[in-house]
Amino acid sequence: MQAALSQAGIVACADLGELCAALDAGAATAVITGEALADTDLRRLEVWIADQPSWSDFPFLVLVDHGNASVQAWQNLGPLKAHANVTLLERPVHAATLVSAVRSAGRARRRQYEVQDTLAALADSEQRYKVLASNLEGLVAERTHSLAEANGRLTKEIADRERAEAALLQAQKLESVGQLTSGIAHDFNNLLTAVLGNIEIARRRVGDEGADRALIAACKAVERGARLTSQLLAFSRKQRLAARPTDVNRLVTSAGDMLFRTMGTTIQIETQLDPVLWPAMVDPTQLELVLLNLAINGRDAMKDGGCLTIRTANVPAAGRPADLPDGDYVLVSVADTGAGMSDDVRAKAFEPFFTTKEIGKGSGLGLSMVHGVAVQSGGNVYLQSAPGRGTTVTLYLPRSATEAVAIELQTTDAPPSNGGPATILVVDDDADVRDIAVNGLRDCGYQVLEAENGYAALERLARDRIDLVLMDVAMPGMNGIETIRRARELHPRLAAIFMSGYADTTVFAPIVDDPLLQKPYRLDKLASAVTSALQAREASSRPDH
Ligand SMILES: Nc1ncnc2c1ncn2[C@@H]1O[C@H](COP(=O)(O)OP(=O)(O)OP(=O)(O)O)[C@@H](O)[C@H]1O
Ligand SMILES: [Mg+2]
Repeated sequence: MQAALSQAGIVACADLGELCAALDAGAATAVITGEALADTDLRRLEVWIADQPSWSDFPFLVLVDHGNASVQAWQNLGPLKAHANVTLLERPVHAATLVSAVRSAGRARRRQYEVQDTLAALADSEQRYKVLASNLEGLVAERTHSLAEANGRLTKEIADRERAEAALLQAQKLESVGQLTSGIAHDFNNLLTAVLGNIEIARRRVGDEGADRALIAACKAVERGARLTSQLLAFSRKQRLAARPTDVNRLVTSAGDMLFRTMGTTIQIETQLDPVLWPAMVDPTQLELVLLNLAINGRDAMKDGGCLTIRTANVPAAGRPADLPDGDYVLVSVADTGAGMSDDVRAKAFEPFFTTKEIGKGSGLGLSMVHGVAVQSGGNVYLQSAPGRGTTVTLYLPRSATEAVAIELQTTDAPPSNGGPATILVVDDDADVRDIAVNGLRDCGYQVLEAENGYAALERLARDRIDLVLMDVAMPGMNGIETIRRARELHPRLAAIFMSGYADTTVFAPIVDDPLLQKPYRLDKLASAVTSALQAREASSRPDH
């Protein structure tokens, strides 16, 4: 039997101590004789059995004698009976039976080990799952966060693009309306020149007092028309701007008087002027008109009185509005506490002829002019307004690199002379306008020749001795500037006065030194411009000059 058992891999243990050691070492099953359990302290075995992990149910085979002995052996098992996996085998047992019982118990034990492996694998995957799940949560949170960030960026980009597109659309709209209006203003100025000139000639010839009053009224109407066309030209940025370094604070202060008179008694004017304001590069006369236009708009919006605040400030490049080119700016703003504008009105306010005022009260050119001057100066203008919350109009003007020069307020015109021996060539493609100048100058006693275009003018200049040319700028074929340039190749000292109802700064750049007579003009203006030009010519031809 012993041999059969050891052949089957079963080792013998002398006592319970050795048995427990073998169990600790990983025995698959234990065969115990009934006698070995009698009078033995089984507590250590009980502890081992109780400490088994959940998957383990160690199999014990207990060999007992047939009959009462088996009952006794069962009794001897004590508490083990309840907790242990015990099978009784009655003796005599055939060796083969015992070996097969041991094998089947061993197989059962191997199964338990497999269960243990499965449980361990399960616990392992559960652990891995937990780690994965917690990582996943982190990943999801991270991804959600970056998605939210990307979404925020995208929303902002869309809003920025929409704003830029709207601004571009508005700029394009204003640009095309500007082109249209500048063309109209040009033609209109020619008409007004003819009308004004003829009225003046008629006034000289008509002795009747009543007729003269009517002609004076007609003159005033023409001058109003001329103011409108000049605002149109300012809007369409076709005005000849005399930009120079300007002390805006000084300009605001000196314009204060005029504004005060315009505002009436119910409106208080406040100024908040930056004491160390940079000089701005702007045409001071135009800026004065801008302030006047804004003040009048403010007054009209404050029917029941209020406060008009004019503010100036330096804006370093870093703080400039995003749509302006790099550089420092000088800010001028005019704020009122008036009715404010609805979104609709605000969107159209800069458009020429847009007005909410009654017919005859507003031409809708004030803000257009402001916009034109700001943009042509290299800056821009912005509106802040809401119904019932007042309006702030803010201009940004480029900072001047040099200090402001003192503003000459009014250049005194030279007194008109009675003409003299001078010969003047009048060149204009518009016969009515040409007639006005020709007749006006003849009335002053000059010798006057005329030409209807640049080519005819050059022929005249080659043929006749001419002291001064009165030259229209915009003419079909060769324009006035080109004509004078060619004429001066022959007569370098030729004096010229340009006339224009439309002055594109880029076209005018080459003739900054020649005087420009803005159409429509009064005949006395023409006469004094001619006198000054002839005097200047005489002075420059003196030998000491
Ligand atoms: N300060 C302001 N408060 C409220 N609304 C204003 C203000 N300034 C302008 N507006 C609105 O914008 C419109 C256009 O202004 P803009 O100065 O171009 O023309 P106008 O004042 O109507 O006429 P004009 O100035 O040619 O006499 C005004 O009719 C008015 O509805
Ligand atoms: Mg206005």
